[in-house]
Amino acid sequence: MQKPADRSPRLVLAPLAEFTDAPFRRMCIEGGADCAYTEMVSAAALLHGHGPTRHLMERMEGEGPLVCQIFGSTEEEAAFAAREIEKVKDRFCGIDLNAGCPMPRIIKSGAGASLVTDPARVFRMLSAMRENTSLPVSLKTRLGPHRGVKTIFELASAAESAGAVSIAVHARYTSQMHGGPVDLETLAELKSRTGLEVLGNGSVRTSGDLDAMLATGVDGVMVGRAALSDPFVFSRLKGIAQTPPADPVSMAERHLGYILRFRRLLEEKHPADHVPGEDAFASVKMHLHLFRYFNGLPGAAKLRAGLSSIRTLDGIRQAFIAFASAI
Ligand SMILES: Cc1cc2nc3c(=O)[nH]c(=O)nc-3n(C[C@H](O)[C@H](O)[C@H](O)COP(=O)(O)O)c2cc1C
Repeated sequence: MQKPADRSPRLVLAPLAEFTDAPFRRMCIEGGADCAYTEMVSAAALLHGHGPTRHLMERMEGEGPLVCQIFGSTEEEAAFAAREIEKVKDRFCGIDLNAGCPMPRIIKSGAGASLVTDPARVFRMLSAMRENTSLPVSLKTRLGPHRGVKTIFELASAAESAGAVSIAVHARYTSQMHGGPVDLETLAELKSRTGLEVLGNGSVRTSGDLDAMLATGVDGVMVGRAALSDPFVFSRLKGIAQTPPADPVSMAERHLGYILRFRRLLEEKHPADHVPGEDAFASVKMHLHLFRYFNGLPGAAKLRAGLSSIRTLDGIRQAFIAFASAI
């Protein structure tokens, strides 16, 4: 597919815990994303041998370039996680440290956005990762803890000194969580001051939003929530004529097919772990993802209500048939 010369930005699927699993990443790569991130993987859980955490490090056929994101609070955890990822490095094109998650539970553990105010620890953790993997290392972070305290320049210097190659910046402060205005001026200033590759991030949904972010000079743009109901948002933003499934039911059926394939892969590769059966696995994923494809369409509210009481694959398929005949 030919990319128009004036609109070929690098578009990356952001890490979204619970959502950016292998089936969804595959949908987004088909939808035009150039690269994706895993959900954040707990370095502490890896260190303590928690089996199912490794499921987050699996990928399926049809996926594209994939960065494995970890979260943790110490250089020991970061080093251990990097060594584990190195063992399966063929799956990944990079390893990223989460220094931006604002959830109180994560901050309390010393991980995620607690690192926004601790560039020295960011340096130590990224250095530990660098020493234990041959993969390129990167940082995903925010502008600072709250308006008035900007730490992004120190964080970028720490990352650069530690040998990271790239920084993804959610252009908001920790106190803003996931809402409120994004600060594109600071993003532009960062781009002019750092030698790192910079990915801009924060509420990009339309080509207007994308143009505004690209005007800061960033090297690429990360898109998260806009992809949740619409994995083909990437090709639309790029102006590429990629053909999405013809209707929401076909989109949901394709996604469901990938969910089932990925479940089989987990079962085969992790026989010692409990992998839920098809009915339970598909129902849980359905509740997270599939109803979004029908949002705003006639009959969507009814389908959504129906989906939450569905516990079997058969029930899911019946609901699709009912929805298809209603539109
Ligand atoms: C449900 C949810 C889960 C998220 N999980 C992660 C995560 O695992 N790692 C991370 O670095 N950021 C995570 N984020 C932040 C996103 O990667 C992204 O920075 C944020 O949503 C802003 O981008 P957007 O407006 O395009 O969604 C999450 C955000 C949401 C809403």
